[in-house]
Amino acid sequence: MLELRGINTFYGDVQVLRDISLNVNKGEIITIVGENAAGKSTILKTISGAVAHKTGSLFFQGKDLSRVPPHVRVEMGLIHVPEGRRLFPQMSVKENLEMGAYTKRARQKRRENLLHVYDMLPRMKERHKQMAGSMSGGEQQMCAIGRGLMACPDLLMLDEPTLGL
Ligand SMILES: Nc1ncnc2c1ncn2[C@@H]1O[C@H](COP(=O)(O)OP(=O)(O)OP(=O)(O)O)[C@@H](O)[C@H]1O
Ligand SMILES: [Mg+2]
Repeated sequence: MLELRGINTFYGDVQVLRDISLNVNKGEIITIVGENAAGKSTILKTISGAVAHKTGSLFFQGKDLSRVPPHVRVEMGLIHVPEGRRLFPQMSVKENLEMGAYTKRARQKRRENLLHVYDMLPRMKERHKQMAGSMSGGEQQMCAIGRGLMACPDLLMLDEPTLGL
């Protein structure tokens, strides 16, 4: 499903990822562990396209992602729940969840997925009208995970998913 081969990523002149290779098969759960600043978040950002890699190759479901912009990767089902939640604080929980389903692939299933998220995370149903920024840290984390699920992921990348939970 996902293949990284010899990925090198830089921030300016500073190389953060050196020769990263990994495979993720369908149905697999892969965990990346490492000390602070090791480059874990940068691996996920490279896969979602938030950061461009300099050399190496990146394939998702057999397609080369090198020239595929981030929003098209999302449309392909490659979903990133970033470290630090990145919710829209002035919008309600429901609106944040719906923002996860703005793609063509997810829009048709928006209602169904919303019910699924409310079923999995009942707290989000209780709080659906509350402003996201006024919830507790753990509740915000639930909302961020729910928003990722709203996007109909084929591959879901969760950065520090249990933070605050
Ligand atoms: N936008 C950026 N510009 C410059 N340097 C960056 C940028 N983002 C990250 N870095 C640097 O890249 C390195 C890897 O950061 P990254 O966020 O990938 O680490 P991490 O393994 O996720 O750490 P943590 O466990 O603390 O979340 C760090 O040295 C960090 O300072
Ligand atoms: Mg990180």
